[in-house]
This record gives sequence, structure tokens and C-alpha cells, in this order.
Amino acid sequence: MVRTAAKGTSVQTKINGLTIAYNDRGTGLPIVFLHAFPLNRTMWAPQEEALSSQFRIITVDLRGHGGSDAPLWHYTLDQSAADVSVLLNQLSIQQAIFVGLSMGGYILFAFYRKYATRVKGLILADTRAQADTVEGKDGRFHMAQIAYKQGPSAIAELMVPKLLSPQTIQTKPDLVQHVRAMIENNQISGIAGNLMAMAERQDSIPHLRHITCPAQIIVGELDQATPPSDARLMADQIPNAHLAIIPNAAHLANLEQPEAFNQIVTAFALETQKETGY
Ligand code: MLT
Repeated sequence: MVRTAAKGTSVQTKINGLTIAYNDRGTGLPIVFLHAFPLNRTMWAPQEEALSSQFRIITVDLRGHGGSDAPLWHYTLDQSAADVSVLLNQLSIQQAIFVGLSMGGYILFAFYRKYATRVKGLILADTRAQADTVEGKDGRFHMAQIAYKQGPSAIAELMVPKLLSPQTIQTKPDLVQHVRAMIENNQISGIAGNLMAMAERQDSIPHLRHITCPAQIIVGELDQATPPSDARLMADQIPNAHLAIIPNAAHLANLEQPEAFNQIVTAFALETQKETGY
């Protein structure tokens, strides 16, 4: 597994019967980062590195991913949201800003439904509020079969072109290798379990107008997995939301254009801090 966090920040804890791995770095307003499928918390290394001088940065391997347990089990995104809530209890963090990218964003919708009072601000990056279509669900089961029969490297083969722009794939071999390694280090049980969890997730569109905290929507202009039209829909329907479109980035906008991504997160966190007086 690629571990890019600074020494001493990587921790394991027991949550809801599972070992969950996380990093906790910096002090100040807590910002909790939830990663995409099927990656892990090291996808947030550029954010952790740049932002932990100003904020308390928490990154977590969601159940079934990275250094967290991946039992053969029925996974749900509500369970992942509950894991995050317990982690915050353990860290004595009552409220935080939350950043979720793609699957991380789906989990934030589940988190907000249950724990809205813990959310000072929401950053929804390269994600969507809609549930899966019938074809989308079929695609999940097909991918789970591939994971079962051919293993995680077959999933990496399929996913990398969906996650990164053609230009990134051509010009940033280290980044491509990092993304591949994150995918390949997952267990089949975690990949399949989280595919089923995403297939089962509920439609969050009716919920958008009930999100009352400050919200920032971010999307890579080249994102085809969750395109700018999905981002606009969230920005239009969440009452207190702004939209930022990052040029020259696809689905993993935080890794492809980290400076632009960090600038948006920092500005949002400082503004939210000012408004809510942390
Ligand atoms: C992700 O990046 O988390 C996935 O692409 C989300 C999905 O498959 O819907």
C-alpha cells in the first residue's frame, strides 16, 4: 500500500467491530475527507500536505478499502457514514467541514441525513445526488463479477481511464501508478461489497433542498463519470451552494489539479469559519 502521510499521523482504531485506518494531522477547524471508490485515504495526500498547516485534516479508509477491514459482508453507505460519526466521537470532534469525492460524496448525503448537526459545511466533489439507474446497477454487478473472477488489477484496468483524463494518463505516470496501487491493494470483498452498497444507495435529489449548511460543489471540467451537469444540478438545488469547475481535470480533480482544488477548499473553510465562528 502507498502510504504518503507524514510519520506519526497514521492510526488504526476499532469502530463498529472493524479495524478502521485513518490519519489525523494538524490543528484548528477539522476537515474530514472521504475518498472515492475503490481508492483509499492516500488519495488526499496533496490536501493533507498543503492544508494541515492551517486546519486539522482527518482522512479515513472507508470500510472495505485500504488499511481498513474488508469483511465478506453486506455493505451499506449508511454504515460507512455511521463509522465516520463514531470516529469523530473517538476524536472528540463535535462538528467539522466534510469533503467527499464521488463515493465519498454519496456517503456524505447519508451522513447529512442522520448527523446534520455535525456538519459545519459540505464540499461535494465529482459526485452526484441521483441514485443508480437500472443500467448503472447492472454495471455494478458486472464489475463485481470481474473483481471476483479476475481480481483487483482487472478493476484498476477498467477504472483508471474513468478516473483520470487522457492527458494525465499520458503525462503523469507516478500519479497513474499511485491510483493503480490504491485500487490493486483492495480486497475483492471490499470492492464487491462497496459496489453493492453504491447500487443500493437512495436518491438524494429530494434531499438537496434540505441541506441548509454552506456547500461547495467542485467538478473537473472533463469528468465523465459524474459530469459538470450533475454538479450544476446539486448547486442549483442546495440553497446555500456555490459551484467551481476545475479546468484540465477529470474525475479525480483533487489529484489532477491539487493547487486549484486546495485553493477552493481553503477559501470555503475560511469563509465557513468566519460565518460560523469556530
Ligand atoms: C467513485 O469514484 O467513487 C466511483 O466512480 C463512484 C461510482 O462508481 O459511482
